[in-house]
Amino acid sequence: MADEGKKDEAKKKENCTGSCEECSRRKFARFGLGAVAVAGAGSAVFGYQFLSPNALYEPSPIVDAGKPDRYPPDSVTPDLQSGIYIVHGAQGIYTLSAVCTHLGCLTAWKPELGIIACPCHGSKFHIDGVKFDGPAPRPLPWLKTWVDDDGNLQIDRSETLAQKQFVRI
Ligand code: FES
Repeated sequence: MADEGKKDEAKKKENCTGSCEECSRRKFARFGLGAVAVAGAGSAVFGYQFLSPNALYEPSPIVDAGKPDRYPPDSVTPDLQSGIYIVHGAQGIYTLSAVCTHLGCLTAWKPELGIIACPCHGSKFHIDGVKFDGPAPRPLPWLKTWVDDDGNLQIDRSETLAQKQFVRI
């Protein structure tokens, strides 16, 4: 009798089209497991973000500008990604911040006029950073510039100079 019951059960399974009670229970169980897995993954992502330090990683203020001979005499080389101008004047090389002292806009070198101009409110600066027009309250700051042991020009954007200093090459 028990064997016949098992045989009937096996036949039922063979002929099942997927709509019997057992099949729908299995589908429901698979759906439930899938939902639990998705919820677990979401919790893991949220937990990771919650536990990660909420810190802002800023790039180094030091810019490696390469060999000084990249900057020919009487040249102004803007590096707007770093927010600086590398100037090779008569007395040597120096670096100016390209950030306007009015409200912090990025200035632009105008080679045809030989000046640095701010597009926001019209401040204008000579190539030594001195302002001659517009609302900027201070000149463009000079930044600490030196040649390292490997002979590369280094600029520290976090250190402004109180006095003009030139790198002589
Ligand atoms: S931000 Fe440069 S003039 Fe206002």
